[in-house]
Amino acid sequence: MIELKGVSCRFGSTVAVDAINLTVETGEVCVLVGSSGCGKSTTLRMINRLLPHSAGEISVDGQDIRRIDVRKLRLNMGYAIQGTGLFPHWTVARNVALVPKLLGWSRDRITTRVDELLTLLGLAPETFANKYPEQLSGGQAQRVGVARALAADPNILLMDEPFGALDAITRDNLQNEMLRIQRQVHKTTVFVTHDIDEALRLATRIAVMDQGRILQHDTPENILRSPANAFVENLLGSQDRGLKLSALRRVGDAMSRHPQPCEPDLETDWLSEDDSLRQALSVMLWHEAEQLPVRDAGGAEIGVLSRDQIWTGAT
Ligand SMILES: Nc1ncnc2c1ncn2[C@@H]1O[C@H](COP(=O)(O)OP(=O)(O)OP(=O)(O)O)[C@@H](O)[C@H]1O
Ligand SMILES: [Mg+2]
Repeated sequence: MIELKGVSCRFGSTVAVDAINLTVETGEVCVLVGSSGCGKSTTLRMINRLLPHSAGEISVDGQDIRRIDVRKLRLNMGYAIQGTGLFPHWTVARNVALVPKLLGWSRDRITTRVDELLTLLGLAPETFANKYPEQLSGGQAQRVGVARALAADPNILLMDEPFGALDAITRDNLQNEMLRIQRQVHKTTVFVTHDIDEALRLATRIAVMDQGRILQHDTPENILRSPANAFVENLLGSQDRGLKLSALRRVGDAMSRHPQPCEPDLETDWLSEDDSLRQALSVMLWHEAEQLPVRDAGGAEIGVLSRDQIWTGAT
């Protein structure tokens, strides 16, 4: 869907992006990760033509972006940035409605859509629609930024450290929401971060960048298992790799299932199928448990996970 071939960007004598090749498939979440100044934002901004590329070719659905009307191109690409870029004198609702309005949607359709999006992002419309950005917390403002990017149902989402300035808990919540929304709407997404854990969690594939080049482009699992060089290995934190790998696996894929769900033992702590093996390991360490029951959303016990299964599941 998005293809960059030999794409470069220069600012005077600085080469910000150096002849990169990158393909982002439809519905995929491609995360660009790397240290400050490596060219992540520049790459993103070339895709929506906020910056011109100085060499190479960028295409969307097989069409060279220089041949697409720039307004049309951008209306099809939601763009969310760190610090949100919300208009301070506009209400939340008006901010979210920006692109639908540009597209000439009817008032009713806009109101319905704004309500739907605020709800999707966990912001009750009756509370938040008429607030101004300065009346929001950082996390709430980021959510509005994401809602605005999704507003006109663009095929592509470009997100530049949208959760960058947030505390760990809010960030964790927004990452969960992002994963949930992604399961519902499957947008082709290019997401920029310098946080490798965020990248591992959200990406279908990660592109590791350094000094304007892509060092490795692969799934989180493959990057963890076989980092292409010392730079990537260092970024992953060599002593943490085992735990990071276990964070990619679900309890549901490693557990043994009971033939029939049964009444749970209310005394013991328990796991959910969607917990990661890393979380399961932590709970087991805490309780010094050899194994723990797994319950479904309704509370019935559906199986057990043992320490051995964490070992085999995570390696
Ligand atoms: N408008 C500009 N004029 C001149 N140089 C620029 C401009 N924008 C970016 N650069 C340079 O291009 C390089 C890449 O910048 P870019 O903003 O893409 O980095 P980044 O990976 O997004 O970094 P960060 O994590 O700090 O946001 C840097 O060396 C930066 O100084
Ligand atoms: Mg940047």
